[in-house]
Amino acid sequence: MTINIHLNGRKRSFNIEPGESLADMLKRHHVWSVRKGCDTSSCGVCTVLLDDKPVLSCSLLAVQAEERHVTTVEGLPHEVEKISDAFGAEGADQCGYCNPGLALVIYALKKELSSPSDDDIKRYIIGNLCRCSGYIAQIKAIRRYLGDAQ
Ligand code: FES
Ligand code: FES
Repeated sequence: MTINIHLNGRKRSFNIEPGESLADMLKRHHVWSVRKGCDTSSCGVCTVLLDDKPVLSCSLLAVQAEERHVTTVEGLPHEVEKISDAFGAEGADQCGYCNPGLALVIYALKKELSSPSDDDIKRYIIGNLCRCSGYIAQIKAIRRYLGDAQ
């Protein structure tokens, strides 16, 4: 079966397998930033934006993205560079495995909330597990990206 998806601003056709998840379809079509850590909706590393909202692509059928807008970090190079710089400045960057999914959640947070509290930030990133960081540096990096570094 073939479906059409607006991937990173470009309308593209993808062949999909029956029951295939969006994460598996994207990986099979060489969207290398999309990762999997659990396949059970627990870790957040497979996060992509679906019509600008963060979703777990391991838990979504590829067919559910038909004619919708899917964004991965490949589609947001300037924002991802800014997020990456903030993480580097705060020492929040370690192995990097969680970074693409986390970057998309942080980008969504910036678009959706004008002056988030620390609790708002925690609420947004609660589903994006990081096995390296203690999260404090991540929250500082997010604040830096949002423009309110101390
Ligand atoms: S791989 Fe999707 S939530 Fe872990
Ligand atoms: S930096 Fe290693 S899992 Fe987050």
